[in-house]
Amino acid sequence: MTWTDYSSAPEVGTPICARAAVRGALAVAVETASGAFPLLLVETAAGVRAYVNACPHQYLPLDHRGPQVLSIDGRRLTCSNHEAQFDAESGEGVAGHGLGCHLDAVPVHEADGMLRIGAGPQA
Ligand code: FES
Repeated sequence: MTWTDYSSAPEVGTPICARAAVRGALAVAVETASGAFPLLLVETAAGVRAYVNACPHQYLPLDHRGPQVLSIDGRRLTCSNHEAQFDAESGEGVAGHGLGCHLDAVPVHEADGMLRIGAGPQA
């Protein structure tokens, strides 16, 4: 499954939020004509990454039970439900219920201080 398979997947160019609003990990809902699209924005050393905020273990939002999902060093995401772990830059599962799974990456790009849904590789 990829992010475009979600019924509420936003159009390319849809604004998300100001880049400055992303400090660590930030869960947002992008409003679309088909409903709210759950997005998890993550600040990494390689730039902002975005994933559908649905853990592949049980498709709950990663921050369902608490907002602290990003490790102190910014390299791992840990689902607040059952502690599946994912690489923050790639979304690949690295431990627990995350093994063999990956988060659905969403391309984003930054322009004029604003993050938007992108068409290609992530920013
Ligand atoms: S829903 Fe994320 S680990 Fe279970």
